[in-house]
Amino acid sequence: MFRTIARYGARQAPGAWRAAMRALLSGQGVRGPAIREFEERFAAYHGVRQAIAASYGRMAFYYILRALDLPEGSEILIPALTFWVVPEMARVAGLRPVFVDVDPRTYTLDPQDMARAITERTRVVVPTHLYGQPCDMEPILRLAERHDLWVIEDCAHALGATYRGRKVGTFGHAAFFSFQLLKGLNTYGGGMAITDDDALAQRIRRLAEAEPWPSALSVLGKLVLGWLQQVFISPRGFTFSLFPVFWLASLVGDRDVSAFLWEKIRRLDPLPASYRRRYSNAQAVIGLRALDYVEEWNARSRQYARRLSEGLAGMASLALPHPLPETEPVYYQYCIRVSDPEALTRRALRRGIDIEMMHVDICTTLPLFASEARPCPVAETAVETRQLPVYSGLHPSDVERIVRVIREIGRDLPPLGIPAQEVAAHGRFD
Ligand SMILES: Cc1ncc(COP(=O)(O)O)c(C=O)c1O
Repeated sequence: MFRTIARYGARQAPGAWRAAMRALLSGQGVRGPAIREFEERFAAYHGVRQAIAASYGRMAFYYILRALDLPEGSEILIPALTFWVVPEMARVAGLRPVFVDVDPRTYTLDPQDMARAITERTRVVVPTHLYGQPCDMEPILRLAERHDLWVIEDCAHALGATYRGRKVGTFGHAAFFSFQLLKGLNTYGGGMAITDDDALAQRIRRLAEAEPWPSALSVLGKLVLGWLQQVFISPRGFTFSLFPVFWLASLVGDRDVSAFLWEKIRRLDPLPASYRRRYSNAQAVIGLRALDYVEEWNARSRQYARRLSEGLAGMASLALPHPLPETEPVYYQYCIRVSDPEALTRRALRRGIDIEMMHVDICTTLPLFASEARPCPVAETAVETRQLPVYSGLHPSDVERIVRVIREIGRDLPPLGIPAQEVAAHGRFD
């Protein structure tokens, strides 16, 4: 039977969804003991003292920023290549986002550009472990210490990744995680803040727990919607629903029709009411079960990433992920740079493989941040990147097929132009 490969795969521990439904039906869908237990086990997984659950990763970030109680207009350094919501939430929290360029090898925050971006108003830096690749934390921490900056790690993509043998999220003053459907730990939405600073944790908790509880109906809605989304991206569901739509659209042009599924880029002030909710017990029930599987899932994605790197090595038209030494990424996404990304995407889709076209945003090019513009030429090279499926739900034969198809297409594409390293040196890309 014709089998397609979706760009996304959701992680779900066996029986977790049903356990959450049972919690809901027994009247413990909203409040219940699983929330605190999940927080405690999440903190223990990282070896930190405190974890506070929130309705979204972005809200965990927002509470951390509010808990720091910084003067209005303080500057916060954020990589130019990230999800647009992150700088927008910083702005809602009263700070001024200042974009920093990224390292051409990893697409994560570049410590050299960070040094250039620091002013006397800078108070915070946000190292984002993008696509599950740890940032180069040592120079970032050194600079932060010299300039007395708060370090808030964005671990939305990187649950379980390590830098020099230590888990990301444990290097800064605090960190936040996302539990959205496609993330390393999926509870159909939600997020977590972690910190070793008890006083900071207390302020974060006070903010998070001041929000109203969600209704049981809205928790049910999250579970049902999540289940449906999971069906749509399952091998059979995808083959007969979204794939034909993407396939037909690829005949008409190169526009990414999946864009209609994304959240609209917009100002978030005032915060949408749906953000201002507490994390539910039913979701924590799922999170608790997922914690037992995270290491296994991550190991599988790593193994698939190794196979992709081995199988796609030496192709002139592709640049493969380049993790820093002494890091162990979790490969939330397998990000490659391609000489002709549109051709690769279109031709792979014709052969049943759906490829992600830019999972995050080049924030310096978004009209939303036009007033925050600062040249970030390496981040802009990310338009040439694509993300190959590497999720743990793939079958090993899917990975072999991805290698085969991408090699065949890649062989026909022109060689890559200027290496991203030279873009960094010359500050220009075209
Ligand atoms: C890099 C990054 N940071 C933060 C977030 C925010 O997470 P959430 O959607 O749970 O608010 C995301 C979400 O995709 C992300 O990709």
